Amino acid sequence: MRICASFRKTMASSFAVCRLQMRGRASLAKCLQKTDAFLHRSIGTDVVVAQAEATRSDESDEKNGRKSLHTLHVERQEQAERSVLISCQTSTNEKKFLKYLTKHGEINKYFFYESYGVYAVVEFANQESVASLLEGVAIPGGSHESAVPFKSRLLSLRNLGSVDSSNQLSGWQCQPQTTIPINELIKRLSREESINKQISSLTEAYQLTEENSRLRFLVCSLLKDIATAYFPECTIKPFGSSVNGFGKLGCDLDMLLDLDSISGRNVKLPKSGLSLEYQMKRANSERAVTQSILSVIGKCIDQFGPGCVGVQKILNARCPLVRFAHQPSGFQCDLTANNRVAMKSTELLYLYGELDPRVRSLVFTVRCWARAHGVTSSIPGAWITNFSLTVMVLFFLQKRSPPIIPTLDHLRDLAGPADKSVIEGNDCTFVSDFNKIQLQSNTETQEQLLGEFFEFYATFPFSRMSLNIRKGKEQNKPEVAPLHIQNPFETSLNVSKNVNASQLDRFVALCQESAWLLQQSETSTPRGGGVGDEGAPTPWGLATLLLPSQVAGIKSRKKRRREPASERIKGLLESLKNKNQLKKS
Ligand code: GTP
Ligand code: MG
Repeated sequence: MRICASFRKTMASSFAVCRLQMRGRASLAKCLQKTDAFLHRSIGTDVVVAQAEATRSDESDEKNGRKSLHTLHVERQEQAERSVLISCQTSTNEKKFLKYLTKHGEINKYFFYESYGVYAVVEFANQESVASLLEGVAIPGGSHESAVPFKSRLLSLRNLGSVDSSNQLSGWQCQPQTTIPINELIKRLSREESINKQISSLTEAYQLTEENSRLRFLVCSLLKDIATAYFPECTIKPFGSSVNGFGKLGCDLDMLLDLDSISGRNVKLPKSGLSLEYQMKRANSERAVTQSILSVIGKCIDQFGPGCVGVQKILNARCPLVRFAHQPSGFQCDLTANNRVAMKSTELLYLYGELDPRVRSLVFTVRCWARAHGVTSSIPGAWITNFSLTVMVLFFLQKRSPPIIPTLDHLRDLAGPADKSVIEGNDCTFVSDFNKIQLQSNTETQEQLLGEFFEFYATFPFSRMSLNIRKGKEQNKPEVAPLHIQNPFETSLNVSKNVNASQLDRFVALCQESAWLLQQSETSTPRGGGVGDEGAPTPWGLATLLLPSQVAGIKSRKKRRREPASERIKGLLESLKNKNQLKKS
């Protein structure tokens, strides 16, 4: 641990040196910005997975039970601290590579992936090995005036001896690090025997892999090394879909700069009565402090962050952030600070996802369906966000009979003293111990739930009612908005405030169409291995729902009223009406 502490100090002091040296010199950022052109290309990243023989994994722990998100964070952060990211050459000889690295200590796990080149993530058994490795690294062009003496854990491997063609990285088994294209997915799903299997297959294809998840924590850890130059005890934590269990490969990396351990929020006051003379120069609001912190860190990332390109400081947003691309990982990153409610939402979504496997699979399926039809988008706008959509799925699952997941109020009632959390006056308390949560025995299949989800929202009274996962009940809308979903923690807010009427109409029309499609025997049963025009299996079941829609062209409520409803939609509405009447009788 001594090595580790001195290593941190060295990093912080060398960083301070580099700040001085860079003053008045050509900015390193210029050089980094040259690579900015890569930013908006889609990244065909492939992971080449190879596990060190001495894998001392935590997988056995995972089998033993569900971990809280906090435990997961601690474990993953600790793994990341012991890891380095190495840019390799495709001709790198694996054996020599490992031999060289093991001189510095035992390796727990390593894997390769591709993102504008081949990279390796190497996790040592001890953090001392990282320090030992960094002691020996060469600083390229040390005499060059723009060299920055900051020893980050992003390294570049050169000249490890001759190439052994039988053992090149390119020969290794590759796993995709981004999701398969939708057409591929449709083909894959069409080969499955049942809709339940299709849903499982989609979840399997889309979810983050173990390697991708490790890489996300490693990127946070690399950025933390930069931020600790200013705030030595800070951490950078991933939140949102990178860790809530609903992230798909290729999703953005939302990060929180956590200064709580040093800001005194969660720290007991020392008995001595001494307090620090300097914390933060007075700012007139907490928001101004956050903006100032992010401005400084954003500049550091821009100037000195290895592999960080296209840095934008978006400080006037409701939630100020620094956005950039981390080129070696291929992640689009959003760094925020003082965003503790979002971390709580992440914890809540994670908890719900862990309670029952049907939660995750339904969320993945609905998110994929929504993206396929343009209901959600990566561009901000009047679309439904993935977060809102996830809350809609949770609400639907609370409304099943019996409910599949409990209400947030119930989770709050089960909370212990350690779970208490009040953020800016909002009660964010809920239980974290899975063992305290008793689920009711609902036996509905994934297929049934998917069909019921579409029916539920095809007929939901959006014009009058708001969705409330705290109570697990719809309530009268407190304000005029086409779609009203109560923010689970900041209860006076609507998480879907951005959604306009035409986007909601499209969502409802697509739900109607999908509900109807799932009721038709010709689309809801396998096609007995039939093949279409180009030898592809004929789409059926869930695959049909991902095909371009016939109702997707609906632009606005007014326009739709003027247009005669297609026979298909008429049939659809009729069948829904009949089904609802049967249910009531
Ligand atoms: P994708 O990035 O689309 O895969 O999903 P995501 O869940 O990560 O969404 P996003 O990146 O937009 O937001 C990150 C996290 O911020 C979410 O998971 C939530 O925890 C939180 N968040 C986003 N939007 C809202 C909102 O409107 N209200 C609240 N309370 N939290 C939000
Ligand atoms: Mg996100």
